[in-house]
Parts: sequence; C-alpha cells; structure tokens
Amino acid sequence: MTTHMGLFTPSTLNLRPITADVEFFRAWLRRPRRMGSLVPSGRRLAAAVAACIRPDTSGVVLELGGGTGSITRAILDAGRVAPQNLVVVEREARLCAIIASRCPGTRVICGDAGDLRALLARAGISKVSTVVSSLPFLSMRESENRRILDAAFGVLPEDGEFIQYTYGPASPIPREFLKAYRMTGKRRGWVLLNIPAAAIWLYRRTADAQSHIAAQPPAKAA
Ligand SMILES: C[S@@+](CC[C@H](N)C(=O)[O-])C[C@H]1O[C@@H](n2cnc3c(N)ncnc32)[C@H](O)[C@@H]1O
Repeated sequence: MTTHMGLFTPSTLNLRPITADVEFFRAWLRRPRRMGSLVPSGRRLAAAVAACIRPDTSGVVLELGGGTGSITRAILDAGRVAPQNLVVVEREARLCAIIASRCPGTRVICGDAGDLRALLARAGISKVSTVVSSLPFLSMRESENRRILDAAFGVLPEDGEFIQYTYGPASPIPREFLKAYRMTGKRRGWVLLNIPAAAIWLYRRTADAQSHIAAQPPAKAA
C-alpha cells in the first residue's frame, strides 16, 4: 500500500471481511459517535444504496464515510460507476486501507470530510454527479454538518443527487438547511434486514430551482 498526500492507492493487501468488521468495531470503541453504528452496513442496505445511483450517471461519484467499503463494493458491483470514477473519503486510516484493498482502482482519500472542500481541491475534483453519504449526521456537531454539506452541495451540479442512509424516521438533513441549498429530500424506502434497520434518502435540487432557471429572461440578441 502506498500513500501520497493522504491518498491511498490500490493495495496488495487482501483483508477479509471478518478483519474488516473487527477494525470497524475497534474504530467504534475509539469514537462511537463518529462511527454511528457497531457494524458496517449489511449487503442488502449496501445494494439498496447503490441501486439509488442513476443508471445514466457519468463523472465522479463521491462517497463520504466509506468505513470498510461495504457500500463502495456494492456500487462497483452494481456496474454503474467505473472504479476510477469512484472517490471515497474516510477519516480512519486503517479503514482506508481496507477499502483500497476491497475496491481496487477506486480513489480513497484518507481525511476528515469536515475539510472536504480542501480534500477535493487537492484531488483536482470540482464537480461530482452523485454524493453517497454514510456520515452519521445525527450524532455530529451542527457546525461540522454545515461545513460538510456546504462543500458537498457546492460540487453538485443542478441535476446532481445526494444519497444518505439513516437509522431514524426523519430526514437526517434538516429542512431549513435543504431550503438554503434549494434541495429537497425524499425517503426512498427502508431496509429492515440490516442492523440497525435503515432508511435511504435521496436529495435533489427543488423544482423551484429548476423553474427559477427556466424563468430567467432570454439573453438579448446582439
Ligand atoms: C456508519 S459508518 C458507515 C461505514 C460504511 N459506509 C458502511 O456502510 O458500512 C460511518 C463512517 O463514516 C466515517 N466518518 C465519520 N465522520 C467522518 C468524517 N468527518 N470524515 C470522514 N469520515 C467520517 C466513520 O469513520 C465511519 O467509517
């Protein structure tokens, strides 16, 4: 495994999922609020999240909070995103190594999503088509959530999508915040066969934003 400026390149390690689960649990013991769950997402949740990515997606897909790579792997397995277009941000170095091992070809950035703007700039990424987030927003500080969402919504184009799963019934991103970014959220469904059961949310720009753009006066002919 090699690292360069926090960027993990594909490694020759071949860590098995059981090792990954142990590393995840260790990380939870160190920082329970940051991990948000005792265990990584199960296969069904990971596949359901991956299936929310539009089939016609193109360009970079950004995953936040990659953990042990359960969702990263499911995204690759779904076949809609090429490994070189998948960029994963995870702050736990040992988990970054596991993702790089399980998902060769993906770009794994080991860093704090709170510094997302700088991390993306350093990686030369200015636009992403979709953000897939596993970050535990409900147990994170509001100021941190704002920094992350500010940067993430900032790199999403008008037709960009933000996918997030959560363990509660309500949207993990508050409505007031979404409004400020002209985003709207919809729960896509629950995955009950996961520990814990999880709901998947999909956020897009509001219709208002689209009509606002459409309502702009046409440019005058020269
Ligand atoms: C609920 S776990 C999900 C992991 C994985 N995506 C899965 O589905 O199993 C949340 C992950 O987000 C990571 N995380 C939490 N806060 C973060 C931050 N500020 N920057 C980057 N990663 C963060 C944690 O280290 C953890 O791996």
